[in-house]
Amino acid sequence: MSNRKGIILAGGSGSRLFPVTMGLSKQLMPVYDKPMIYYPLSVLMMAGIRELAIITTPDDRAMFRRLLGTGRHWGIKLTYLTQPTPDGLAHAYVVAEDFLDGAPSAMVLGDNIFFGHGFRDALQSANRPGPGCTVFGYHVSDPERYGVVDFDASGRVLSIIEKPKNPPSSYAVTGLYFMDGSAPERAGRIQPSARGELEITELLLSYLEEDLLQVEHMGRGIAWLDTGTHGSLLDAGNFVRTLQKRQGMQTGCPEEIAFEQGWINAEGLRKQAEIYGKNDYGRYLLGLLDDQGTGRRQPVANHGR
Ligand code: TTP
Repeated sequence: MSNRKGIILAGGSGSRLFPVTMGLSKQLMPVYDKPMIYYPLSVLMMAGIRELAIITTPDDRAMFRRLLGTGRHWGIKLTYLTQPTPDGLAHAYVVAEDFLDGAPSAMVLGDNIFFGHGFRDALQSANRPGPGCTVFGYHVSDPERYGVVDFDASGRVLSIIEKPKNPPSSYAVTGLYFMDGSAPERAGRIQPSARGELEITELLLSYLEEDLLQVEHMGRGIAWLDTGTHGSLLDAGNFVRTLQKRQGMQTGCPEEIAFEQGWINAEGLRKQAEIYGKNDYGRYLLGLLDDQGTGRRQPVANHGR
């Protein structure tokens, strides 16, 4: 089994969502029927990662802990770290250095949602051992808001440019990064940018300079949503609602993933279901137990999350 550890970056100021996020962390806000952080947490669990750090602001840490606890009930181990000020995405690796203790990692942004056909395969291919860093390039209509990949004619990555005025391509780097054990040391060498942040782009470029950066294509069959504005948050909620209603299956359900992975048994799942009484979420979890061995659900690989 891989010794890769997970990081969920759930700090930041959430200023684009003010006034809603003035009293509550963005990543605790609902995306339809679940707290936002359930979705990125589910992604790392789907990648098979059981030891994870959640990085929050000092003010919000207690609330995340109240929501998620130790993780034992889901067969995972959660550690809570704080980032005193929002010093950038690469700063997460400075904060998490001791937690990682030399291990490779997968970091996901706490406000990113992924869903779609082939996503599980993409996770598996990025999760291979060995040196280097793997990120995903995704075609978007507004690349200037993101780190953008500059390719040459043969598709080789030439550079990654943070929020370019004239984007060299329409491929943005998503908020999911697989890195080897050298990431904290590399992050420690980065100087703050003009906006005062340790930029993730700089960290990726340090891998690129050594020919250790892999940009995987994330195809149009996968939805990548970020939920940082009022409109995109509402869109993400509607997206999740539409999917779940149509399919009768949850997306971003940690209990289901823990059960599928064999990290909790039927008894553990039943205990979790009881917490929710007779609401839809609880009924869904109980339904997973009823479906066991009946052939009513396809094997995991076909869920196309
Ligand atoms: P952003 O959406 O870029 O920033 P933000 O959440 O602070 O929001 P706003 O721009 O509206 O002020 O951050 C992406 C994710 O990374 C989000 O989940 C918050 C997190 N983050 C941190 O945890 N620490 C940081 O220093 C930064 C910049 C972001």
